[in-house]
Amino acid sequence: MRPSDRVPEMTVSSPEIRILPSTPELFQAGASEFASHASQAVSRSGRFTVALSGGSTPRSMFSLLASGAVPGVPWERICFFWGDERHVPPNHPDSNYRMANQAMLSKVPVRPENIFRIPAENPNAAYAASAYEDTLRKSFGVKAGEFPRFDLILLGMGPDGHTASLFPGSPALQETKRIFVANHVAKLNTDRFTLTFPALNHARRVMFLVSGQDKASTIHEVLENPAANLPSQGVSPTSGSLLWLLDRAAASGLARSPQ
Ligand code: 6PG
Repeated sequence: MRPSDRVPEMTVSSPEIRILPSTPELFQAGASEFASHASQAVSRSGRFTVALSGGSTPRSMFSLLASGAVPGVPWERICFFWGDERHVPPNHPDSNYRMANQAMLSKVPVRPENIFRIPAENPNAAYAASAYEDTLRKSFGVKAGEFPRFDLILLGMGPDGHTASLFPGSPALQETKRIFVANHVAKLNTDRFTLTFPALNHARRVMFLVSGQDKASTIHEVLENPAANLPSQGVSPTSGSLLWLLDRAAASGLARSPQ
C-alpha cells in the first residue's frame, strides 16, 4: 500500500455503536438523534449547524423528519450544509442536494437563506470547492487555518469503506489543511466534493447511519480491524462524539455485540 493511501489513525476513544432491530427503527433512531441535537444546539447557541450526507440511506430518515414523526424540530433555526456532493447540477438525479430537498427541505419551514448548497454545477470543481470553503468560513466565522465546528455531521458508508466522498486511494485522504475539496475518484472516473478529515473530526457530533447486509463485512472491518485502513476509520472527532447507528443486517458481521 502506498503511503499516500494511508488513512489517519483512529484515535483511541471508542465510538458509541447502537444496533437497531430493523431498518425503520434505524431511521427513527436517526431522526430522534437529529431532533435532539438540534434542540440542544438551538438552546446553546441559537442555531443548529448540520452537514447532511448523501446516497440513498438517509432519504427515509429525511422523509421521517419532514413528516413530523419526531416533534419539536426547530426548523427555522437550522442551517443546512452538505458533507459531500457529486459534480452535477442541483436538479440532477445523482445530486445529494436534490435528494434532501425532495425528501425534506421542500416540506418543512426551513429558511431559504439557511440552506447552503454546494455549487456543484460549476464545471470548475476546484473553484466550486474553494467557493464552498469560503461559504463555510463565513457561516462559521472561522479564519484561514481554522476549521468550522458543525453541531452534527451525518455520514454514510459505502461497501468499500468510503465516507462522504473520501474514497480509498483518493487524494483527499491526505488533506490536512483544507476544509472542503474537490476529490478525483478514479474508480468512478469523476470528481466529487467532500469535507476533509480535519473538518469532519472538528465536529461536536458525527453520526454514521448504515443499513443493509451489503455493508456487514465492511462494518466488521471498520469497527473491529484497526489495520483495515479504510476511509471511514479516519473519522474520530478530536473533541466531539461519534455514534454509529446500524440496523441488525449491517451489524451482522460484528464479532462482538457492543456493550
Ligand atoms: C454519497 C454519500 C456517500 C454515501 C455512501 C453510502 O454522496 O454517495 O455521501 O458517502 O453516504 O456512499 O451510500 P448509500 O447510503 O447509498 O449506501
